Amino acid sequence: MTTFVNTRQAQAWNGSVGLHWATHQQRYDALLTDVNDALFAAAAVRPADRVLDVGCGAGTTTRIAARLAARGHAVGVDISAPLLRRAQELTAAEKIHNATYTEADAQVHAFPSCGYDVIVSRGGVMFFADHAAAFRNLRRALMPGGRLAFVCPQPAGPGTEEGQALRLFGELLGGPDPDTAAALAAMASLSDPDRIRAVLEGWENVEISPVSLDAVWGRDAADAVDFILSRSPGRPVPAGTRTMLEDSLRPYESRLGVRLRGAVWLVTANRPVRDKPDGD
Ligand SMILES: C[S@@+](CC[C@H](N)C(=O)[O-])C[C@H]1O[C@@H](n2cnc3c(N)ncnc32)[C@H](O)[C@@H]1O
Repeated sequence: MTTFVNTRQAQAWNGSVGLHWATHQQRYDALLTDVNDALFAAAAVRPADRVLDVGCGAGTTTRIAARLAARGHAVGVDISAPLLRRAQELTAAEKIHNATYTEADAQVHAFPSCGYDVIVSRGGVMFFADHAAAFRNLRRALMPGGRLAFVCPQPAGPGTEEGQALRLFGELLGGPDPDTAAALAAMASLSDPDRIRAVLEGWENVEISPVSLDAVWGRDAADAVDFILSRSPGRPVPAGTRTMLEDSLRPYESRLGVRLRGAVWLVTANRPVRDKPDGD
């Protein structure tokens, strides 16, 4: 039986937020692709490794891990049924046979003890109500000495290019719907490095380094505005407002699309070699 303790996030990721991510999977990938190299360089997956991908979503990073662990396997865990369906479809289409998916709340799921050599996550570990408990649970799932590598957003805000570029959307359209607001609030929960260190108590070799990325929001300004507005379908947007939004993104258009500079933390840590089996 599946136990979810993060019920607010389970509702959002099985509702409008998860459906939007599943429907626009390629677009969300384009926002995050830039961090893949740094994440997998840090994870150093070896051919026979068993890899766990936490908050795997549509499984892009699970499939990268599975390709790297060609003689091992990768397991993606996620709380969102629609995103896991998408992950399974894409895994079958790409003919990857060593990647599987588990629908569960990673904070409390009974992972096999010492069942993995590496844990990765591309933005899937910020949504826990109790991060310290979640990372203790994940530590028990790793082999002693095993590696954790994840990325999570740095503080957003008016000083960042993304913050400046998307400022008008908040000003002209108001706040997002409650599910999106809950997901966005959780997304920022690990933006403070001191907090990351605190919730990784019991891990060793904790390192936090900045990685910048160019997030591609659309082919051009009109396409990017369509995507952003599609997060709140049914909201009336007067033509004049729409024009202002498109104009605000025009300076970021390039041959490669509308690119906004963002920044994440790359976090790495190890389960201590001499950790007790239960990790406490
Ligand atoms: C920002 S998305 C990232 C998805 C994916 N890692 C990617 O890079 O495309 C966050 C993911 O974390 C998942 N998630 C949120 N809370 C979770 C939990 N408690 N346990 C497992 N997955 C969770 C969401 O369903 C969602 O798929």
